[in-house]
Amino acid sequence: MEASQEHLKEEIARLRKEKNALIMAHYYTRPEIQEIADFIGDSLALARQAARTDAEIIVMCGVHFMGETAKILCPGKKVLVPDMEAGCSLADSCDPEEFAAFTAAHPNHTVISYVNTSAAVKAHTDIVVTSGNARKIIESLPADEKIIFGPDRNLGEYINSVCGRQMLLWNGACHVHERFSLEAIVKMKKEHPGSKILVHPECRKPLQLIADKVGSTAALLDFARTDEAQEYIVVTESGILFEMQRECPGKTFLPAPAEDSECQCNECDFMKLNTLEKVYKALLNESPEINVEPELAARALRPIERMLQLS
Ligand code: 13P
Ligand code: SF4
Repeated sequence: MEASQEHLKEEIARLRKEKNALIMAHYYTRPEIQEIADFIGDSLALARQAARTDAEIIVMCGVHFMGETAKILCPGKKVLVPDMEAGCSLADSCDPEEFAAFTAAHPNHTVISYVNTSAAVKAHTDIVVTSGNARKIIESLPADEKIIFGPDRNLGEYINSVCGRQMLLWNGACHVHERFSLEAIVKMKKEHPGSKILVHPECRKPLQLIADKVGSTAALLDFARTDEAQEYIVVTESGILFEMQRECPGKTFLPAPAEDSECQCNECDFMKLNTLEKVYKALLNESPEINVEPELAARALRPIERMLQLS
């Protein structure tokens, strides 16, 4: 029989204290996971927090590459993920061998990779970025620097347009952010004329063009917190609505519809694999644990450290 949610929360609190563990969660996880997390953030904030924590165990409630990044930053700590199956379609759209061949075919290019990649892709990278710092980092490079950007073509195209760059783009994408329907969002805007449209840069260009704000999950949250509008159409994974509503209780946040209105297509199934039961079991059994082969971890660490220095 499934343990009650309240009992699970109490057990998680007990184990976390006993084992000096830090529970981290991405904004796309389920509300009950965000509620019990010690730290909630976007990909950038999660990496920064992992780099500075003195906890002995990190429980990363997000997806595999987030746990892997934490392990690379903290090789001496135990990094647990509640479900090893929590992958990422964007990271999967970039095969390390194909990416290595692509970079080898374009020598004299600085290789920039989005954090949504495997350790093997990071090992072929000069600087890692997240959606929260990509623009700042790319703007810090000389205007004539030749750049390869992977794997998200929508974020790459966005950076090219706002920074006036001509980065070579890898053709990858996130299945959740690609599925939002322009037509349905325009219709929603007509029904809510006072609303503002918040768009994650992993979405396709036509959606970016109708946005009042394009930004990472943390940037969209910041915008909603400080902006004067009362209503927002949120074009990113709908898990973010929990924190938006918590921080701005008087405002209305409408999840943008995806192309197929029959399914919850604005949800990332991978993120939703994180449940209270699995967090409890991970803490109890200290498993599943992320491990990265030390030589690979050392090569993947350099571009992550460069990111942290530059942002
Ligand atoms: P950020 O956390 O950088 O906004 O990225 C969103 C995302 O898709 C994470 O997987
Ligand atoms: Fe990956 Fe997209 Fe899910 Fe983020 S929302 S974890 S990019 S599949």
